[in-house]
Amino acid sequence: MITSAINIDIEKTAVSKISQIDFAHLEFGAVYSDHMFAVDFKGDEWKNPQIVPFQNISMSPATAALHYGQTIFEGMKAFRGAGNEILVYRPQAHCRRLNKSAERLCMPQVSEEMFLEGLNQLLTLDHEWVSSMEGCSLYIRPMMYASDEFIRVKPSTNYKFIVFTSPVAKYYSGTVKVIVENKYVRAAEGGVGFTKSGGNYAASLLPAKIAAEKGYQQILWTDAKEHKYIEESGTMNAMFQIDDTLVTPSLSSSILAGVTRDSIITIAKDWGIKVEERKISIDELIDAHKSGRLKDAFGTGTAATVTHISEIHYNGTDLVLPDVSKRDLSSKLAEELINIRLGKAEDKFNWIHKIQF
Ligand code: COI
Repeated sequence: MITSAINIDIEKTAVSKISQIDFAHLEFGAVYSDHMFAVDFKGDEWKNPQIVPFQNISMSPATAALHYGQTIFEGMKAFRGAGNEILVYRPQAHCRRLNKSAERLCMPQVSEEMFLEGLNQLLTLDHEWVSSMEGCSLYIRPMMYASDEFIRVKPSTNYKFIVFTSPVAKYYSGTVKVIVENKYVRAAEGGVGFTKSGGNYAASLLPAKIAAEKGYQQILWTDAKEHKYIEESGTMNAMFQIDDTLVTPSLSSSILAGVTRDSIITIAKDWGIKVEERKISIDELIDAHKSGRLKDAFGTGTAATVTHISEIHYNGTDLVLPDVSKRDLSSKLAEELINIRLGKAEDKFNWIHKIQF
C-alpha cells in the first residue's frame, strides 16, 4: 500500500491486463483499465478513498440503487499529448454536472478536489492505458450509487462513488440514420432528463430497439407533451445548420447539458458563427429541408464527439442530408475540438486538465 498526499490508499494490481488489449480494434466500453478509484459516503461524509485493482463489487440484493434507480454517472475522456502528458478534457465541467445530477436525485455532492485528485492519481497509475493511436482515448466513467440495504422508497444514507476507465475508439464509426420518435418519451419537463441517471437510458432502450429493427441507429427524441419539438438524438445533443446558423434545442429539465454541446457552441461563437439555442420543431426542419436550407444535422457527446446524421426519418419520409464532404462548418468545428483535446490547438477556454507523471 502507498499512501498519497490526500490519503488515497493505493493498492496496485499484481499483473497488468494491458498486454491483452488490441488498441487498434477497440469496441466502445468493452475493456477496462487496471485500477479504479472508490470512495464511500457514510455518516454524512466521504470516507476511505482508495485506488484498487478494477474489480467486481459485491452487494446485497436489497441495495437501494438496484430497485429505485438512485444512480448517476458521467462520461469524459483523456488523451495523450504530444509531450507524452495526459490531457483530460473539461473534468471540472463534468464534476459540476455530476453534482447537478446528484442534487436532483438526493445524492451527496462530490468536491472538485476529491474528483480531480482521484482522477490525477488514477490516471497517473494507469497512464499507459491512454493510447496515442489516432482516434483512441481513455473514456472515464465516474459513477455513484445508493448503497443502503433497504427497500423502502427513500433517499439512501450510504453511497459509493467509483471512477473507472476504458480505452475506446469513437462510439459511432460513421454517420447515423435517425428516426423521429412520436410515441415514446425519453424525458418530460420537470423530470430527470437533464441528469445523467441510469433511468433515462433505461427508458430509451425499447424505442431504440424498435428503431434499430427499422434500420435506424438512433432516435431523434421529441418533447413529451406534443411530440413537436426536437429534444436530443439518442445519447447525444442534437444540432442543425440552417443556412449559416447553428441551431440547437435550448436546455431544459428534459435535455442534458452536454459538455461537447457547450464546447461546439463556444467555439462556433468564438469564430463569429451565429448560434441559436431555441425550440426547433420537426415542421421547421421539414420546411428547411424542402427549401434546401437544412445544410447539416449532427449529434454531439463525449462518447460520440461529433457524429453526422445522414437521414432523418419522419412519418414515412426520409429527409436526406448533404454528403458529409459538403458539411464544412461542423467538420471544421469537430476538427478544432479534436485538436484542442489533443493539445494541438490553443486551449483558449482553459478546458484542458494536464496530468504530468
Ligand atoms: C457520453 O457521451 O459520455 C455518454 O454518456 C454516452 C454514453 C451513454 C455512452
